[in-house]
Amino acid sequence: MIVVASDLDPSREHQHAPGPSLWPVGFAVGVVVLLVGFVVSWAIVAIGVFVTVFFAFLWLRELTQGSPLAEKPEKAKPEKRLPAGAPVPRAPHEQQEVERYPRNVFLEASTLGLGAVIGGIVTLPVLGFMIGPAFLKQGVRHSDLGPIGDYPEGEYVVTTFTSSDEGDVSRRTAFIRNNGFLGNQPSFTVISNHCAHLGCPVQPNGAIQYKKVSTYKDVTKLPVNPSGFGCPCHGGQYDTEGNRIAGPPVRALDRYSFSIVNGHLMVGKPFSVAYVIGLGAGAKIHVAKYSFPGEPVSGLESWLYPIQPPR
Ligand code: FES
Repeated sequence: MIVVASDLDPSREHQHAPGPSLWPVGFAVGVVVLLVGFVVSWAIVAIGVFVTVFFAFLWLRELTQGSPLAEKPEKAKPEKRLPAGAPVPRAPHEQQEVERYPRNVFLEASTLGLGAVIGGIVTLPVLGFMIGPAFLKQGVRHSDLGPIGDYPEGEYVVTTFTSSDEGDVSRRTAFIRNNGFLGNQPSFTVISNHCAHLGCPVQPNGAIQYKKVSTYKDVTKLPVNPSGFGCPCHGGQYDTEGNRIAGPPVRALDRYSFSIVNGHLMVGKPFSVAYVIGLGAGAKIHVAKYSFPGEPVSGLESWLYPIQPPR
């Protein structure tokens, strides 16, 4: 005859693990939304926190219901006085062998606890590296590219500079043209050399005058007189304003914002450009949010890329 443990000790039935539940799934979904929110936006972080806390509450409530933690202690009954010399009756729970702290509960708790500690050791550093940068002051600095007199009017200069404090990995190249004055403000065209197809380094279509190279701090300047710009990877072609004229790129070349400080040209954040109408100082630039290469920034196709993760 097969004897089931619960038949022997009905009081242990309540110690069984709760049945399948959807609350852990909701909790996991909340954590995922929370992590995605750190990349996308704070509104999604708030939604993730709400979902995580909500399902954590439901899950905890389900775990504690029916567990020894949730049981109310029985009221103590008044003791009966026994006549002197009479044998002391034993309580029912003392008449049989009772495990005060069953081994399976101990093993279950120690396994879960150990798993939680190991999971924390493995997960926390990863989370720190994922989330930490969002709270650090990282970003593009305004790079000093030297006196504006180093940029002859109407000519392109291939300029290589450091765009942030991260060192050589942040070296960038821009095609810079001095457009003269627009009103009383100096005008510059500062085009990024990152191809708008897949990001390859675009080259000027014209001879670079290597003998006229000049430097200013860590900035290198090479004059060039291009008829346009071309990408060596898949043949993308751009005109002198950075408009795409042939090949697979989906938009114009990105540009950098600029300012003039104490007679020096400073470049700042890059931005994307859908297309440019006109030339030089009078050009109308259709500016767009800074987007990854290959992403259209105008027309119906741009609707396929509604969210731009920060970078
Ligand atoms: S990366 Fe420039 S054309 Fe493909």
